[in-house]
Amino acid sequence: MEEAPRLVSPEVQETDAGFDVSLRPKSLGEFIGQAKVKENLSIFLEAARGRGESCEHVLLYGPPGLGKTTLANVIANEMGAHIRITSGPALERVGDLAAILTNLEDGDVLFIDEIHRMNRTIEEVLYPAMEDFALDIIIGKGPTARTLRLDLKRFTLIGATTKMSLLSAPFRDRFGSVFHLDFYDVGEMSAIVRRSAALLGIAVTDDAGHVIASRSRRTPRIANRLLRRVRDYAQVRGDGTLAPEIVDAALLGLEIDPRGLDESDRRTLHAIITKFSGGPVGLTTLAASTAEDVSTLEEVIEPFLLREGLIDRTPRGRVATDEAYLHLGLEPPTKRLL
Ligand SMILES: Nc1ncnc2c1ncn2[C@@H]1O[C@H](COP(=O)(O)OP(=O)(O)OP(=O)(O)O)[C@@H](O)[C@H]1O
Ligand SMILES: [Mg+2]
Repeated sequence: MEEAPRLVSPEVQETDAGFDVSLRPKSLGEFIGQAKVKENLSIFLEAARGRGESCEHVLLYGPPGLGKTTLANVIANEMGAHIRITSGPALERVGDLAAILTNLEDGDVLFIDEIHRMNRTIEEVLYPAMEDFALDIIIGKGPTARTLRLDLKRFTLIGATTKMSLLSAPFRDRFGSVFHLDFYDVGEMSAIVRRSAALLGIAVTDDAGHVIASRSRRTPRIANRLLRRVRDYAQVRGDGTLAPEIVDAALLGLEIDPRGLDESDRRTLHAIITKFSGGPVGLTTLAASTAEDVSTLEEVIEPFLLREGLIDRTPRGRVATDEAYLHLGLEPPTKRLL
């Protein structure tokens, strides 16, 4: 049997699908947080509009669930442009991309999600399309092969990626603007929870909104997911209104603690503290002792615990910080051998 996805995973899950779309802000004004990105983006859009041109190609990068797809749609909306959506893995053959490119109209936006997963051959076809709005097609094989250049309409490519480091430098350089989305602060998260609640017709007090916001790992997608789960609880166990006590009880039932840690996170911290005296411990040893997959530990659990300041990375392995002890209700060690 497949394991149930973690409630606090930032990646999109089946049950998010409809909500992700309906809760998506449509304009820059509706988009909460990311002040720096919004400011630069509005100048960028304004300038393109002023020149009466389509805007330059844009690359959006940052962790999952922070609003890359949302922002791509916002940019298209703000430009009054049609958006055509595809993704790196969906473009299997050069022909797939060629078909899309040749169907674009002037000013259209082509959004390629997970652009780091596009294969090299297709990437190279994209270069002249991005630079010269041209498509080079090779006709025939061997010595008689020749290239035919097709003109394309002036479109705007928006790429999104969670793994910037996997994009080649020449590819990155072909984007006129690169925007980095970062984790939201708790005030912004509260505003997002209030906005989503209003759209879903859920009554939520400010305090209750704050509780959900602070347990959502600074990630809007997680906040929206928790909001829905808490709403179900309130409907069954209360009168439907989200008050702080109801939210607390619901999240306790879902095993999400006040800092947004779930069972796997706590198990990891517990293992470092109790089985390895607080560390340092290597990732593989830690994974074996918690029956966690090394890659899950490295790519999912560890980054969050590091970001929260609950663990530190040292040359000899991971150590639990004093905050981790306190968070688990334990006494931090007085002396440390590091
Ligand atoms: N700034 C924001 N304000 C309000 N809601 C937001 C914001 N950013 C994201 N959201 C909400 O979070 C959900 C997830 O955002 P989105 O799908 O854009 O993330 P993503 O960065 O594309 O994630 P992935 O890397 O998994 O594709 C959206 O449906 C939207 O409801
Ligand atoms: Mg996305």
